[in-house]
Amino acid sequence: MPALFAMSDVTPQLDYAQLRARAMESLFGAFDSLCEGTVVVDRDARVVWINERYAARFGVADAKRAIGKAIEEIIPTSLMREVVRTGKPLLLDILDVDGESFVVTRIPLKDERGETIGAIGFALFDKLQPLQPFYARLHRLQHQLAQTRQHLAAERRAKYTFSNYIGNSPAAAQVKQQARRAARLEATVLLLGETGTGKELLAHAIHAASTRAGRPFVGFNVAAIPETLLEAECFGAAPGAYTGADRKARVGKFELADGGTLFLDEIGDMPPAMQAKLLRVLQESEVEPLGSNKVVKIDVRIIAATSRDLRAEVAAGRFRADLYYRLNVLAINLPPLRERIEDFGPLCDHILEQIAARTRLTLRELDAEALALLKRCRWPGNIRELRNVLEQACMLADGPRLTEADIRGIVIAPEIAAGAEAPPAAADRPEPATYDAALAEFERELIARTLQATGGKVTAAAKRLGLGRATLYKKIAALGIVPRDRDASPT
Ligand SMILES: Nc1ncnc2c1ncn2[C@@H]1O[C@H](COP(=O)(O)OP(=O)(O)OP(=O)(O)O)[C@@H](O)[C@H]1O
Ligand SMILES: [Mg+2]
Repeated sequence: MPALFAMSDVTPQLDYAQLRARAMESLFGAFDSLCEGTVVVDRDARVVWINERYAARFGVADAKRAIGKAIEEIIPTSLMREVVRTGKPLLLDILDVDGESFVVTRIPLKDERGETIGAIGFALFDKLQPLQPFYARLHRLQHQLAQTRQHLAAERRAKYTFSNYIGNSPAAAQVKQQARRAARLEATVLLLGETGTGKELLAHAIHAASTRAGRPFVGFNVAAIPETLLEAECFGAAPGAYTGADRKARVGKFELADGGTLFLDEIGDMPPAMQAKLLRVLQESEVEPLGSNKVVKIDVRIIAATSRDLRAEVAAGRFRADLYYRLNVLAINLPPLRERIEDFGPLCDHILEQIAARTRLTLRELDAEALALLKRCRWPGNIRELRNVLEQACMLADGPRLTEADIRGIVIAPEIAAGAEAPPAAADRPEPATYDAALAEFERELIARTLQATGGKVTAAAKRLGLGRATLYKKIAALGIVPRDRDASPT
């Protein structure tokens, strides 16, 4: 392009050396007026020079007195030593000093051979206008972090106390007495009982009554996590320990529960490889996060629970005997609902009060006949199932009293309590016309019944049916079944 040639031809020659000197002068001038502080250290990170203003900020009245001292003596959180050691600059870092933030830049100083002989650091005013958006963002994130931490801490506190475990029957009273004793001890607790008998409730209550009450309660459901992730979830993982998307470090449940209680739910579902690792952790009281070479000491009280017959699992070779004995220090057997019939009254009252409080509907009362009917039912899903039934009854019934008719409409075949098997529920319905319709009918019946038995727990139902959880969810949606999964909502 001829025009360009013409232009460069007429541009006067500049004195480059002079320009460079000018640039440096202006740069240092700018830094001097913008800088809250400047500090220079030697190769051993000892202060060579610090300006008065910066020294004063760290409580050194006379800057000359700082000279020759290790930098950390003046600025405890300084990273200048790091810069001298690595020879690499740290540009635009944030240093927090007494609630104020500075933007600091640290640059190594090199001799002619390129050896690091010291470093220079600049701290910029935190009121620096161009950085305001960053500060605003930083403060917002810090605020959010603090809130999240608070939230997590609240989550990790126990949700229940012994007063939430309702029942005065001999069986219930014995459970409470054993649990109170367990709370006073540090030993491992093993909670055994059918689904919905209150194992999780009791684990919270034991923690809340123990000396660890002020520390975290961390729950961990072994059955809910895929085997490949179990170890990292439990013991943590160093950054990059995973392949694939999740390259971040992960804090394990043991570490999260440090000083507090770790509730290992569904322990009977733990795969053998994991059982061996857990045993070692319990023996050594330390964990080694996946992919890290460090061990972390932990101080955790274990409460384990399972609805499986753990002794039978041991006999069948599915559960390690040594781990079983390690866990089975203080075992508490939670009675099923059918063995504490006299608790039905107080339990129903309690649950109806909870429902009224949560839904802001009027408090319902049970008729004597309705209560008698409930007592005659078989309750494979125990108290969770009882609560689901009462919730439905409250939604469907009109008056303030729940009658036998209200209950009968909901519970499946109450007569089976007498010991007989469930009668074919579809006996008086017309035969479905096609094979497909019959199959759908059968599936709906089977799934609904299984869900009822597990108290609405889809995961448990899937396991019983030998289906994947996702598959069952799909079938539930396709068949138009309404699962009443109450697991997620604490009372
Ligand atoms: N004694 C009790 N008094 C009052 N409510 C109870 C009692 N036992 C259990 N519940 C209630 O029943 C429901 C199920 O209890 P929980 O989740 O503790 O059972 P679980 O034994 O852990 O069951 P699963 O083996 O299915 O996990 C919860 O809503 C809980 O509050
Ligand atoms: Mg449970």
